[in-house]
Amino acid sequence: MKIIPCIIGLGYVGLPITLNLAKSFVTYGFDKNRKRIENLKNKIDLNKEFGPKKFDNIKKIIFTNKIKDIKKCNFFILCLPTPIHKNKKPDLTNLNDAIEIISTILKRNDIIFLESTVFPGITEQYKNYLEKKTNLNNNKDFFIGYSPERVNPGDKKYTLKNITKVVAIETKNKKTLEKIYKTYNKISRKLIISKDIKAAETAKVIENIQRDLNIALMNEILLICKKLKINFKEVMRLAKSKWNFMNFMPGLVGGHCLPVDPYYLSTISKKNNLKTEITLAGRKINDRMLNYIIKELNYFLNKKNKTLKNSKIMIVGLTYKAGVADMRNSLNFKIFKKIKKYNNKIYGCDPFVTKNIKTTYDIHDNVKKSTYYDVILFLSYHKIFKKIFQNIISSKNRNKILDPFNYYS
Ligand SMILES: NC(=O)c1ccc[n+]([C@@H]2O[C@H](COP(=O)([O-])OP(=O)(O)OC[C@H]3O[C@@H](n4cnc5c(N)ncnc54)[C@H](O)[C@@H]3O)[C@@H](O)[C@H]2O)c1
Repeated sequence: MKIIPCIIGLGYVGLPITLNLAKSFVTYGFDKNRKRIENLKNKIDLNKEFGPKKFDNIKKIIFTNKIKDIKKCNFFILCLPTPIHKNKKPDLTNLNDAIEIISTILKRNDIIFLESTVFPGITEQYKNYLEKKTNLNNNKDFFIGYSPERVNPGDKKYTLKNITKVVAIETKNKKTLEKIYKTYNKISRKLIISKDIKAAETAKVIENIQRDLNIALMNEILLICKKLKINFKEVMRLAKSKWNFMNFMPGLVGGHCLPVDPYYLSTISKKNNLKTEITLAGRKINDRMLNYIIKELNYFLNKKNKTLKNSKIMIVGLTYKAGVADMRNSLNFKIFKKIKKYNNKIYGCDPFVTKNIKTTYDIHDNVKKSTYYDVILFLSYHKIFKKIFQNIISSKNRNKILDPFNYYS
């Protein structure tokens, strides 16, 4: 039977999958956001990951927000956001809604893959729900699996096509497995297959937790060095000379994944009466960096007899990571907004920020002369920033620069 893929949720994760599959199959892209669908139909990706050309050379792609359009699809890939509530508990609303849609259109032999980052046991939970709601049986009438997503927005080296993709499914049904390989091979060239869905769910969440913790450690070392007046850069140069020292750097941690995923694992551990000791440790330190930066800025200005309130401040790098348009959980932007509350002479520079935010917040790519500002605070590294501010970065007189993470020294 012909494979008819349908990707549900067309954001940072779902859109690249859709575009890859559409090169080989007639592919459906479903999103509840009508505006997103309209834009995609016009080859506009506001996430700035794909230009119009990437929508060419494809077999056929149908972008829709109507359930009736996807009824005939038989391979569903779910790429819904999995954020946390204000109380830091997992918010599964988007996934629940999508599974509800699937439950109304599920047919015999359909395949469903979850790609969202979750805690172990979620796929099984949804499998149980679908079985109950549809009277169809998993691994007999339909097949549900988990394939964690590793796409790294803004990264031109490690793309979806060339990274190794984990695909976990329990069935032994040969025809189904063939369909799965055929489909996932079009998404990524290297697949690593597992029969253990819970292991795949856990593997994904710990990849991000490990990174969060490692950055947190370096942030803490930076704070210690600052306090003890030790040259952090030199510390790193020396430590890195050891063969097994891991090269993590301090910085602001944001985005949809790292600030969220540790709460997913800790919640399920707590539910099972296990209190985690380390999983969340990175969260505290990494979030604390916001106040650290504001303190550093205040100190920097006070030394010039200025205050946070009356200074002309330029903040460079506002999205959560340089090179992407993603503002979710961006500490950079939080710092900007916090200061903006009492200072109307704060400016931002970030070519990656989308137009509407730029106009609301005075964010430019063409900045005024550096002499205009009392301080230029660099919060992330990108060669574009280096180019825009090359005069001041390369000058001997760098006394307007505050570069807390040593990106430009
Ligand atoms: N962004 C990343 O770099 C990244 C990397 C790896 C894993 N992930 C994981 O992938 C998942 C998706 O993240 P993302 O960054 O692509 O999210 P996103 O916010 O960019 O996109 C999600 C899309 O889903 C749509 N949506 C929400 N609820 C829906 C529903 N009920 N039906 C149809 N569409 C719906 C939204 O409108 C949005 O367009 C998350 O679990 C995330 O943790 C993300």
